[in-house]
Amino acid sequence: MPHDLLAEMVSAVPMPALMVDQTERIIAANTDAKTLLGQNIEGRHYATILRQPQVIDAMEQSLRTKGPAKTRHLANDGAQDTTFEVQCRYMKGVGAVDGGAVMAVFQDMTHLEQASQMRRDFVANVSHELRTPLTALMGFIETLRGPARDDVAARERFLQIMNDEANRMNRLVGDLLSLNRVESEERVRPKEQVELIGLLQSTLNSLRPLAENASVTLTLDAPSEPITLTGDSDQLRQVFTNLIENAIKYGGSGGVVDVRLTASERDTAMRGPAVRVQICDKGPGIDAVHLPRLTERFYRADSHRSRELGGTGLGLAIVKHIVNRHRGRLRVESDLGKGSVFTVILPR
Ligand SMILES: Nc1ncnc2c1ncn2[C@@H]1O[C@H](COP(=O)(O)OP(=O)(O)OP(=O)(O)O)[C@@H](O)[C@H]1O
Ligand SMILES: [Mg+2]
Repeated sequence: MPHDLLAEMVSAVPMPALMVDQTERIIAANTDAKTLLGQNIEGRHYATILRQPQVIDAMEQSLRTKGPAKTRHLANDGAQDTTFEVQCRYMKGVGAVDGGAVMAVFQDMTHLEQASQMRRDFVANVSHELRTPLTALMGFIETLRGPARDDVAARERFLQIMNDEANRMNRLVGDLLSLNRVESEERVRPKEQVELIGLLQSTLNSLRPLAENASVTLTLDAPSEPITLTGDSDQLRQVFTNLIENAIKYGGSGGVVDVRLTASERDTAMRGPAVRVQICDKGPGIDAVHLPRLTERFYRADSHRSRELGGTGLGLAIVKHIVNRHRGRLRVESDLGKGSVFTVILPR
């Protein structure tokens, strides 16, 4: 096969690819391969370019046996570690003295690796979150069967704790299901017409008992005209409930939680008509190191306090998915010691 044709073929492979013939030199490489391995690699010995022992071994084996070989190539693209699956395939009748050559193709597996890592982390997190209340329940069952069998007062107390722990597990499972539902619907545009001021008023009303218990005053500052947008009213209610509940639970020491609704014809973030709902508290605030990760599942800025308050760490993850489904944005600003502002921007 003429060398030009071979080079053309390699350059048409839609991922890093190169060819090594029986002279053990790279006889062709496409631009993706040069980006991955270096610019002037043609004509060089493969071992000086491939470098990683397992890749050199695979190439060596494929050249020797004139058969296939497979391995992994690990790299870093400047932003993250990357993983490639390398497939070596022998081709007859090409290369120097037509002795055949090996084509090595590098398939990027980074996303797959990341997805499976995320899945493993998620399972580990869920198991851990469920195990804590479960261990407590099992401990109390044991105690009730043994030492506390005839102690009526202790029995009542333990049953109360068991009830709380079971509720916690129930909430966790409920939040997980809710997250799952929201995620699976994320690409389906909502269709309902929702009036936001009414929705916010009724959300605030249902949270008043919680606020009163925490000695927090809830206020709503909204325009007098009704504001409607296309959305999913149940989900938007969930967003505002989660955010206001958080403001009461974690920022309640400031004594007030203000909800502000504003509408504009040209929002700077949405480049078009949009509404902004801001939930402001005057509590302790959130350290800037936590802000980028706050919407991750199970992420808690103050894990002790969150657990103590019965939080599952899923609230903001759910909020983020719902806001995404509405093509909106969630912004968090916080000043340590001064409070936090969570802003939901929704396009109209
Ligand atoms: N207004 C706030 N002030 C200070 N910290 C906050 C505030 N809102 C959220 N946080 C922090 O962010 C963390 C994540 O919140 P998120 O709502 O996702 O979980 P949660 O409240 O712990 O659990 P859940 O909402 O599922 O009951 C909280 O644990 C808390 O540490
Ligand atoms: Mg929460």
